[in-house]
Amino acid sequence: MAPSSTRFLILLAAASLLASFARADLQYDFYNTSCPGVETLVRDALNATFAADSTIRSGLLRFHFHDCFVRGCDASIMLQSHNGTAEKDANPNLTLRGYEVIEAIKAKVEAACPLVVSCADIMAMAARDAVYFSEGPDYQVETGRRDGNVSMMEEALSDLPPADGNVTVLTKFFAVKNLTMKDLVVLSGAHTLGVSHCPSFSHRVYNYTGVGDEDPSMEAEYGQSLNATCGGLDNVATVVPLDAVTTEKFDLGYYQSVYAGKGLLQSDDALRHDSLTGAYVGVMNNASSLDTFFADFIVSMINMGRIGARTGTDGEIRETCGIYVD
Ligand code: HEM
Repeated sequence: MAPSSTRFLILLAAASLLASFARADLQYDFYNTSCPGVETLVRDALNATFAADSTIRSGLLRFHFHDCFVRGCDASIMLQSHNGTAEKDANPNLTLRGYEVIEAIKAKVEAACPLVVSCADIMAMAARDAVYFSEGPDYQVETGRRDGNVSMMEEALSDLPPADGNVTVLTKFFAVKNLTMKDLVVLSGAHTLGVSHCPSFSHRVYNYTGVGDEDPSMEAEYGQSLNATCGGLDNVATVVPLDAVTTEKFDLGYYQSVYAGKGLLQSDDALRHDSLTGAYVGVMNNASSLDTFFADFIVSMINMGRIGARTGTDGEIRETCGIYVD
């Protein structure tokens, strides 16, 4: 029998081997043999969905971001709670869109390969396809994520970056997720798609410093048009494009808007006031930078898609994404 110190070392080696199986890395084509064709299935289903409603593309891109920033990319955003205390119940998530789309695709995937493909991976593919079908870049997503079964409202409230944050604040929110300032300015470029509800920015228009004033950083005519569109601080019914130039096209319109003082959210406008992020906005204001933006966006999306990923035997594969957790 081996002496106890040797046995301890053998156990330690076995434990770290097991841990390395449990914490396998994400990889390309993870489902190649276990569910061949799943990425095509997802893309075809989304193509049909977008043909009926092109505006849902931006919803799916944001969905992946809000999933990844809270407990990692583990589809915990999809979980429901009986007493309204899940991530999805947190204020910044009340405007998220795309739950039914992911659930419908998951049902199709389940029919082809039961209990093989995670909801988190479907969300990552959907975000990629939303960009692709908006004339943005195509790229391979890493897969192999597994789903989490814990979802807490407080974590969504503490981990999602605030829409009135400056670059120092936003950078900190990104840094705790292992993302850089470059990731911040590049991923903010996702605001080339989609809309915001008035309350997410209306303080800039009607009450910037608490005396009924407007954010002086906003381009004057843009401020006037927002004032007319929202008609007051609390208009929850109206939405405004995040990229006033080309709302449904994945391009440089967002950076051109920000550069011109027409960034809708305070967090968008903030980017042009910091020297590093401002320099990037300046470069992206030039039409010849489109390929650079696409290449940067792919890298940053892959970085974001790695946040807190559960792999190996960690987490679970569930049949429906939105089951109740309490
Ligand atoms: C930098 C920090 C960020 C902040 C503070 C922020 C904040 C917001 C806010 C307040 C809205 C509008 C919500 C509403 O009122 O309807 C929004 C929309 C959106 N965000 Fe962000 N966001 C950030 C980063 C990101 C990232 C990293 C992505 C994706 C990679 C993203 C994708 C989107 C998209 C696509 C929309 C439009 C959604 C739709 O049309 O339904 N955002 N964001």
